Formats: sequence, structure tokens, C-alpha cells
Amino acid sequence: MNKTIIITGSTDGIGKLAAIKLAKDGHHVYIHGRNQEKLGKVIAEIKSLSSNENIDGFIADFSNLEAVKTMSDDIKNKLSKIDILINNAGVFQSAILKNKEGLDLRFVVNYLAPYLLTQQLIPLLEAGTNPRIINLSSAAQASVSMDALTGRTEISNQASYAQSKLALTMWSFHLAKTQAAIEVIPVNPGSLLNTRMVREAYGKFWSSADKGANILYDLAVSEQHKGKNGEYFDNDQGNYSKAHSDAYNTTIINELLESTKEIINL
Ligand SMILES: NC(=O)c1ccc[n+]([C@@H]2O[C@H](COP(=O)([O-])OP(=O)(O)OC[C@H]3O[C@@H](n4cnc5c(N)ncnc54)[C@H](OP(=O)(O)O)[C@@H]3O)[C@@H](O)[C@H]2O)c1
Repeated sequence: MNKTIIITGSTDGIGKLAAIKLAKDGHHVYIHGRNQEKLGKVIAEIKSLSSNENIDGFIADFSNLEAVKTMSDDIKNKLSKIDILINNAGVFQSAILKNKEGLDLRFVVNYLAPYLLTQQLIPLLEAGTNPRIINLSSAAQASVSMDALTGRTEISNQASYAQSKLALTMWSFHLAKTQAAIEVIPVNPGSLLNTRMVREAYGKFWSSADKGANILYDLAVSEQHKGKNGEYFDNDQGNYSKAHSDAYNTTIINELLESTKEIINL
């Protein structure tokens, strides 16, 4: 059965490759980008590669939470259901370290934006068939500093990336418990995959970008992952595994969610 699938950050990297694979299967794939021209080009490219005309797009710069909210309103106006949401957009290095509200860019793009988008889209996911949310975590996970999350202190690229990825993972486990009708699976797609993010940050890679795209594809459509709600898939190991210990600590998760709600003001 064809699914309605949204993949954020799908104008490049593993998100784009996963979108191509899913489009080739005939699913209705909604990609997302922050640049209208690049978004249009990638939609045309995916249509041509997949011979699937059901490819559309949404636009928002995820460093701007107002834009994320506007995009979620667009989605709600256009779609009546979502089967699969892949929260893939992410940033590691950036020339700009903070957004206009003074929040660290990694926390905003990698955690607060997918949090806000997903909260807004829960009713559409509840209307989906076997709905599933795939959240892009990482092997890099570090305890979240509330001062860094709220923009009160500045930390390094590596630290804010790892903290934002643990924040996403902690929220994923919470969501899995509280949204009974929706499966939520956080995933490390594999370390140092050959994408722009990794080439810019490290100047080298360990594995192909296809390794990451393939696991996103499988997590989105494979029956193998049914019933894995609230489990963490580690593609470095090729199986379900344990995330950072903070992701299982309800007290720390509640503290994170309190701060998150204050920032997002929902
Ligand atoms: N590659 C790895 O080894 C690895 C390992 C662990 C986890 N991950 C995670 O996997 C996900 C995909 O990463 P990737 O390696 O494929 O990186 P990538 O090639 O750099 O792609 C990142 C995607 O996110 C989008 N994006 C970045 N900042 C954005 C913003 N402010 N607003 C909207 N979209 C934005 C990019 O849009 P543009 O096309 O406009 O640049 C791009 O489509 C990320 O969440 C990353 O943290 C990757």
C-alpha cells in the first residue's frame, strides 16, 4: 500500500537518498528544504529518477521556529493524514552559531524544530495507517546542559550537536510512551557516512551515504520494525541497542521537556 511520507532535510544527504528510494516504490513523498530553488530542483530530480509524479515539497528554515510553525500549518492545510514522518534535517557545523532568538543553532534545528513540527502533526499521524516517526539521532550523544539548551551558555559544535541528539532521543522515548497509536523509533543511521555534513566537519568518511539511506527506508516501510516503538536502532551495530543512559531517566527527561515547553511556548 502506498504511504504518505514526509522527510525533513531531504534536499541533500541521506534524506534525499531515502526519498528517492521511497519514491521509486510509488509512495507519496513530501520532501522538505530551506531553499525554494534547491527544493524545486530536487523534486524534479526525484520525479525523473522514480517516474513518480506524487512528489511534493514544503519549505522552512528550521533555525526559525516561526517558520517551522508556518510549515506545519501548510502541511495541515494540504494533507489529511501522514503515515511516516522522518525527522532527518540536521546541522553539525555552521558559520552562524545562534538563531535570532539567541538559541544555539544545533539545538534549534536538530531538536526544537522536529519537536515543534511533530507536536503540530500528531493529529495527522493519528489519522495515518500504522503511523511511524523516525527521529535521526547519532552515536554522538551527551548529557544536555539546560543552560546550553536555553542559550545561556555557549558550547562547542561537537558538544551542542551531541547534546541536541541526546535531547531528540530522550524526547523520542517520551513520545513513544505517550502516543500509543504512533510508533516512534530514534535511529543512529551510522557514523561518518559520506555526506556534506561529515565531509565538511571531518574531511573523511567511514561508510557510504547509502548505508544511512537504506536504514531510513527500512525503518519507514519494513514490517521487520513493526512493534519496535520506543526502541533505539543503532546502525553502527545493525540492530536495536541502548541509547545514552539519560534517555532512560524519567527525571532528566521531564526536566528537558519542561525547558523545551518554555522555549517553544506551546
Ligand atoms: N552523516 C552521518 O554520518 C550522520 C551520522 C549520524 C546522524 N546523522 C544525522 O542524519 C541527518 C542527515 O544528515 P546528513 O549526513 O544527510 O547531512 P547533510 O547531507 O548535511 O543533510 C542535512 C539536511 O538537513 C538540511 N538542513 C540543515 N540545516 C537546515 C535548516 N536550518 N533548515 C532546514 N533544513 C536544514 C539540509 O538542507 P540543505 O540541502 O538546504 O543544506 C540537508 O537537506 C542529520 O540529522 C544528521 O545529524 C548523520
